[in-house]
Parts: sequence; structure tokens; C-alpha cells
Amino acid sequence: MVRHPDHINEVLIQRASQFRKWTANLEVFLGEGLLVSEGDHWRRQRRIMQPAFHRERIAQYSQSMCGLIGEMIKTWRPQEVLDIGHEMMCLTLRTACRTLFGYDADEDVEVVGSAMQILQSGVIIQDVLPRWAPTDFVLRHHPALKALDRLVYGLIDREIEIGMPSQAATNATLLSTLRSAFFDAQAMSRKQLRDELVTILLAGHETTALALTWTFFWLAMTPAEEAKLHHEVDTVLGGRSPVFDDLEALPFTRRVIQESMRLCPPLWLLPRVALEDVEIGGFHIEAGADVLLWVYLCHVDPRWYPEPDKFKPDRFLAGSGDIKHPRAYFPFGAGNRTCLGNHFAMVEAQLTLASVAQNFRLALEPDQNVQFKPRVTLMPKNPLRMRAIPRQ
Ligand code: HEM
Repeated sequence: MVRHPDHINEVLIQRASQFRKWTANLEVFLGEGLLVSEGDHWRRQRRIMQPAFHRERIAQYSQSMCGLIGEMIKTWRPQEVLDIGHEMMCLTLRTACRTLFGYDADEDVEVVGSAMQILQSGVIIQDVLPRWAPTDFVLRHHPALKALDRLVYGLIDREIEIGMPSQAATNATLLSTLRSAFFDAQAMSRKQLRDELVTILLAGHETTALALTWTFFWLAMTPAEEAKLHHEVDTVLGGRSPVFDDLEALPFTRRVIQESMRLCPPLWLLPRVALEDVEIGGFHIEAGADVLLWVYLCHVDPRWYPEPDKFKPDRFLAGSGDIKHPRAYFPFGAGNRTCLGNHFAMVEAQLTLASVAQNFRLALEPDQNVQFKPRVTLMPKNPLRMRAIPRQ
């Protein structure tokens, strides 16, 4: 177990080649998708996909993001009690499908959602079949996962039918970028396209939804910080809905999300396996040993964060002095396996937070037992019920 920032950075950056990812049996379902692949194959795939996550592309996706956020807010009735985790999950899933695949997931939200739950939450072993059942079998044959496969292959075949994209194509998506790779001397097979799309759905929607869910929780717990957020959005936006170009002028909104991901990092543990004997922080690690990088414990360590349990977004102000180690924060990982969607996620989260804060205060319903349910991601144990109180 590794929790010191220097040692975590050693594993993720300086000595990254001496470790590989530990992925349980996820590759049975994810195939050779980016999250689980290694070596030259991983490097080639990452190069192909990277352009779909460049700044200009994200600026373009942000228009759809804003539309979907607005649609969600319109469905909230004054004083309605929301399961905020569910709301955020639907939003981020719709966003990923529309922006990255050019597809409106409205009717299929449940198909994708339930497959993702099975993969993400570690229920693979405990809840689906009796404990003795082989988990690979579950991953290959579970009806929810098969339904997701059918959906994704449907999208791919529709995309392949369109043929080679023209140079002048506007509103490019990740899928159209991958389509070019498919036609470009068949650099990617149909199966590889499927692996990457399923990976992006898995990696890209629940993480962002959880970051937002915990953010609303922390704001409800700290009225002074919530008031600062309202002040920022009111002053900067003056009642107009936020767009991509406003984000730089909303730095407190960003710090709120950063601080929330410090206290509740959606990926709280990054597992690796040592490929050879190696020494980290004076400890000998044998080849084949599991090495668990504790993002969560590092983020709440009082050596790096004074008053670590307090929600203080202004820690992230340059020169605040409230972060004692320059590399003690890695909600998106570090090194060459850093999150591919980190900018995408931050833009989506900032736009969502600013839009919601403009329209509603979200107040925690009383008598809730708020606890972590740490699986692959850091979920709340019970649905988080919040009341949508309209702002004047
Ligand atoms: C707040 C939201 C998110 C968080 C906290 C997060 C966190 C992470 C972390 C910690 C890793 C590295 C895992 C490791 O090193 O073991 C990672 C990898 C990855 N993430 Fe994210 N992520 C988020 C959103 C997204 C989004 C929106 C996408 C895509 C749309 C995405 C796609 C990926 C991919 C493809 C990888 C694998 C990269 C590689 O191995 O080359 N993530 N993410």
C-alpha cells in the first residue's frame, strides 16, 4: 500500500515501466480498450484517440453539454426531492453519448446504466451469481452486458455505413475519429472500435457523475462556500447561462470541484502489479506483488493538507499555503496513464455546477446516513436525497 505522494509519483511516473495496471478480470469485457491495454498497442490507441479530447473539440462538445444540462434543470420542479446521484448519472451518460458518439441515448440510458453498474461497482463477484460462479462467465454472458454490446455494435455499424469521413466534416466526435482510423488502412478493427467505445462509456460517465454528486453534498454542508459560489456565478454570468468561454472567469467554481475531488476522489485507489523486483521508499517489492496506490489516503493526509477533513476550496488558490506537497493531488492519476478525459470532465463539471447554482440551491434532506461505498469508484452507500430550492 502506497500513500506518500513521492512514492505514488515514483510508481506512476519515474518507474512506470516497472509496473503494469492491475485490472481484475475487466479485460474479459473491455477487450483491448485503452483502460486495460498495455505496451505498443496502448500507445497506438492513445495516439489515435487523443485528438478527440483536444481543447477545440471539447469547446465544440460543450455546446451539447450546455443543452443537456439545461434540459435536465428544466425537469426539476421547485422543492422537488431529487436522487442527485441518479440525476448526475443520467446527465453524464447522455453527454458522453451525444458528444463522443453523436448519439442521443434517451431511450437507452437504462441499458447503458445497468451494464455500467455491473462492471463498475464490483458486483461482478458478489451480487450477480452465487459466489462459486466464475466471474468471466458473468462478464461474457450477463444479459445487461450483452445488451450494451448490441447497442455499441449498432452504433459502429451505422458509423461504418457512412463511409470515409470528408476532410471538411464539422461536428466531429470521438466515434468519427475512430471511424477514420477504421478506414485508414484498417488501423482499427470493428472489435477494437467496440472495445474503445465501451471503455469510454465505462471510464467517462460514472466518474464525472460522482464528482458532481459529492460536490453538491459538500456545498450543502458548507453554506459559506455555497454563498461564495452563488456570488461568483451571479456576478460573472448575470443571469445568462454559462458557456465554454465563461469558464476561465469562474475560478471558484473550479476550485469547488477540485476540493470535492480531494475529499471524495471518484477513483480512490489505483492498483498496479510490479513487473520486476523494485524498491519504493526503502521497501522491497517483489515481482508479481500487487501495489495499491491510495489516492484517498494521500488526499486526506494532514502532512499535506492542514485540517484535511474540512471542505476549503480556496486551498487551491495559488499560494494559499494550504497544500504542503506540490504533488499530493491526483484525482486523474499521473504519468502516461493519466486520464484521457480529464479536461472533458472538468469542463462538464464546471458547466453543470455553474448552471445548477444559478437556478437552484440543493439542500440535503434531513436524517440521511451519508457514507462511502468504496467499490471500483467511491460511491455514496445510499441514494443522496437533495431538495431543489429555486434561487431568486
Ligand atoms: C471526474 C471524472 C474523472 C475522473 C476522476 C477520472 C479518473 C481517472 C483516473 C484516476 C485514471 C487513471 C487510472 C490509473 O492510472 O489506473 C483515468 C483513466 C482514464 N480515463 Fe478518466 N476520469 C474521469 C473522467 C473521464 C472521462 C470523462 C473520460 C472520457 C470521456 C475518461 C476516460 C479515461 C480513459 C480512457 C482512461 C485510461 C487512460 C489510459 O490508460 O491511457 N475519464 N481516469
